[in-house]
Amino acid sequence: MIDLVVRFPEMGEEAWQTAMRLRLPPSGEYTAIAVLGMGGSGVGGDLLAALLRPVFPVPVVVVKDRGLPAFVGPQTLVFACSYSGNTEETINAYTAAKQAGAPTIVITSGGVLHGLATAHGDPRVQVPPGMPPRAALPYLFLPMVNALRRLTHMGELSGEWAEARDALRAMVAELGPQSPRERNPAKQLAERLFGHMPAVYASSPDLAAAAYRWKSQLNENGKVLALWHAFPELNHNEAVGWEDGTTAARLAVVLLGEPAEDAAVARRIAATREVSFRSAASVSDVTARGSARLARLLSLVLFGDFVSVYVALLRGVDPTPVPPIDEVKRRLRLPAEGR
Ligand code: PA5
Repeated sequence: MIDLVVRFPEMGEEAWQTAMRLRLPPSGEYTAIAVLGMGGSGVGGDLLAALLRPVFPVPVVVVKDRGLPAFVGPQTLVFACSYSGNTEETINAYTAAKQAGAPTIVITSGGVLHGLATAHGDPRVQVPPGMPPRAALPYLFLPMVNALRRLTHMGELSGEWAEARDALRAMVAELGPQSPRERNPAKQLAERLFGHMPAVYASSPDLAAAAYRWKSQLNENGKVLALWHAFPELNHNEAVGWEDGTTAARLAVVLLGEPAEDAAVARRIAATREVSFRSAASVSDVTARGSARLARLLSLVLFGDFVSVYVALLRGVDPTPVPPIDEVKRRLRLPAEGR
C-alpha cells in the first residue's frame, strides 16, 4: 500500500495523459453531471463536485446507490466508476442510466461493467488491474477532470493538474517512507492519532471531500473508526457532542485548512477550538498546498493517504486487505475481483 501511495503523482500523470486520447460523447448541452461509484470508486466523484462547484455552471451529483435520481436523462453526462467493475450498486445505476438515455463514460479495470460498456459502445477508461480500489484514485478521478476540460473547454484545468502534480511529487519526498520521523509531518501526525479516534474536520465545504477521504482511508487502511465533518455546519450539531468530556478525551482532531484561510472562517475555527476542542486528546492542523483548487484538494488527500498507512503500521495491521467489505460482497454473492 505504501508503494502505491508513493506512486500517486505518477499514476495521476499517466491517467491525465490517457484521458487525452479518450473518445468522448458529443459535447451537448448538459444540464447536470452524475458520477456513479461506491467507496474508493465514489470518492473521485466527491472530489470532482468539490473542484467544479465554484466554477462550473451545472451541478455535479454523486450517486452512491443502486438507483438513480429522477433528473438523470439524455442531458445528463454520467461517469460510471467501479475499480473492479463488479460492484452491484454501480452496475445497477449504470443500467438505469442507459435506460434513461444518458450519455455515459465508464471508468473501470474490468469485470461486468467493462462488458456492459463494450456492449453499449460507451467510451471507457481502462484502469490498470490488480490494485486495491482506493489506491487507484488518480486513475479513477483525473480522467473525469480531463474529460470535462475537453468537453467544456475549461483550459485552465491543464495548468491546475501540472501544479498539482509538482506539489504531489514534492510531498512524496517529504512525507514518504524514506523521510525520517523528525522531518516527516505525516509520521508525526500518525503518532498523535495512534490510540485515539480521529475527528477530521474541513475548514469549509470546499474541502469536505478531502475530510471524507481521510475518514475512509483511516477506516480501510488504518482499520479504525473515524469522524468527519466540515465547518460551518459542524458548529450547528457536532460541536455540541464535544460536551461529552469522556468521549472528547479519546478523540484526536485534525483540521484541514486552506493556505490563506478567509478571516471569517479563521475566527470561527479559533472560537470552536476554545469552545469545543478543549478536552480533545490533540488538535493538529494540516494545510493544503498550491494556489489552485486541484492542488489544494489533492495535497490534502495525499497527506491523509500517508497518515492512514502510518496509522496501520503503528497499529501492526496490514493496510491492504479489507475483509469486512469482501465478506458482505461475498454474502450478497458479489464477486470481489480487482483486489
Ligand atoms: O476501497 C475499497 O476497496 C472499497 O471502498 C471499494 O472501492 C468499494 O467496495 C467499491 O468497489 P469498486 O471500487 O470495485 O467498485
